[in-house]
Amino acid sequence: MVNPPEADPEYAAFLKEYPSYAETAQLDKLRASEYARLDAAEHIYLDYTGGSLYAESQLRQHHELLRSHVFGNPHSSNPTSLDATRFVEGAREHVLRFFKADPAEYDVIFTQNASGALKLVGESYPFAQGSCYLLTFDNHNSVNGIREFAHARQAQVTYVPVVLPDMRVDEATLEDHLHRVDPSRPNLFAYPAQSNFSSVMHPLEWIQRAHALGWDVLLDAAAFAPTNELDLSQVSPDFVSLSFYKMFGYPTGIGALVARRAALAKLRRPWFAGGTITVASVQADRYYLADGHQAFEDGTVDYLNIPAVEIGLRHLESLGYPMIHERVKTLTGWLLKNLTGMRHASGVPLARVYGPLTTDKRGGAVAVNFIDRNGAAIDHRTIEAEAARSNISLRTGCFCNPGAGEIALGISRVELDVCFTQPGHESRLSLDDFRLCIDGKNSGAVRVSLGLASNFRDVQAFLHFARGMLNREFAANGASAF
Ligand SMILES: Cc1ncc(COP(=O)(O)O)c(C=O)c1O
Repeated sequence: MVNPPEADPEYAAFLKEYPSYAETAQLDKLRASEYARLDAAEHIYLDYTGGSLYAESQLRQHHELLRSHVFGNPHSSNPTSLDATRFVEGAREHVLRFFKADPAEYDVIFTQNASGALKLVGESYPFAQGSCYLLTFDNHNSVNGIREFAHARQAQVTYVPVVLPDMRVDEATLEDHLHRVDPSRPNLFAYPAQSNFSSVMHPLEWIQRAHALGWDVLLDAAAFAPTNELDLSQVSPDFVSLSFYKMFGYPTGIGALVARRAALAKLRRPWFAGGTITVASVQADRYYLADGHQAFEDGTVDYLNIPAVEIGLRHLESLGYPMIHERVKTLTGWLLKNLTGMRHASGVPLARVYGPLTTDKRGGAVAVNFIDRNGAAIDHRTIEAEAARSNISLRTGCFCNPGAGEIALGISRVELDVCFTQPGHESRLSLDDFRLCIDGKNSGAVRVSLGLASNFRDVQAFLHFARGMLNREFAANGASAF
């Protein structure tokens, strides 16, 4: 769906409030030429934080590359192998340039996804007794999961809460935690540059602050990098995790750990694999790890798809972050304002948004629960099913971010302890058991997220859908009673 005519009163009001949207018109042309499949199939795609969409030209360029080359396994030095290596290394260099990372300071490790990058750090970080893994409450589970490595090595694990209603971190509390460790031990601080739940952008200034107090910093940029520039010449986290499909849709299955070389040198890999060693011996039971990224890329890298990462990066560069950012920001502002303004005839507001209500220091994802005319939250699964009937793709649940979910939905530590220690819940707990356990409390939310191919019509369609929820009543099982 193209933008409505400017005479459309809603569009006119939007343009009046956000005139800078008009400066992003190039993205409308692109939507028509590169993302035409969205409108051809009348999709309202609102899950860019789940995964961005690829431009058709990315596919064409990649397929042309594959069609015109013979690529061999890069672990050799024959001609086809060397050609594959050239493209893989070209992509690696391009990732560094894209993030303005000095190659003398940073290295890029290709992984399967952001989770793969995070696991590499977790399993290799020299946690020990007396060291600390500090992380904000609103991390993705793949950052939370690192705590298991920390626990196993007797390190302390500490969460810094995010505070309602905005779901930001209280700076004084963070400062206190950053001070409360032995700086002579390996201490790791992890946080998302942008939360995939509340879309809060946490300050990148924390990196320098934590460094000054002796911490290593892991910045999860998976939800941030799709619409915001990360300039590693300005901020220097030790580790950055990314998934490329979240940035430009294609290819899936490739992410990266962008890491400071000095920080990589501190990591201790728990094993070796094909490709990660210079020499390994069976009889002598010895191995020598290779240097830099090679020591971390287990087996054969995805050499046919890695060149598509470079194509995707060029695509983003051809648009530029300022334009993508502006478009997402203006649409998010309109979405927030209109959604939070909707009220049932009973006076009850329709939406409870978890996170900032303005576009200041926040990204383009809006986590929300819909409230019925009697003030009861409508089950997020009901909203998902209703949205699907309108061909709207959105995300529901906790988005792999349980800490933010627990805070947003008011699920207390006591309730969780009671639930997890109930007989029968020792080693298995299904999501339905969990729902029962927290006594019918809403166990998730609805997330609408915008990205580079979003337009006004998408937001308008969602707002229209939301308006359709007004004055309806839903039975406890989520079925509409109206
Ligand atoms: C903030 C954040 N970190 C990490 C991840 C994990 O990404 P992947 O599933 O691609 O490994 C996600 C995915 O949604 C995310 O939003």
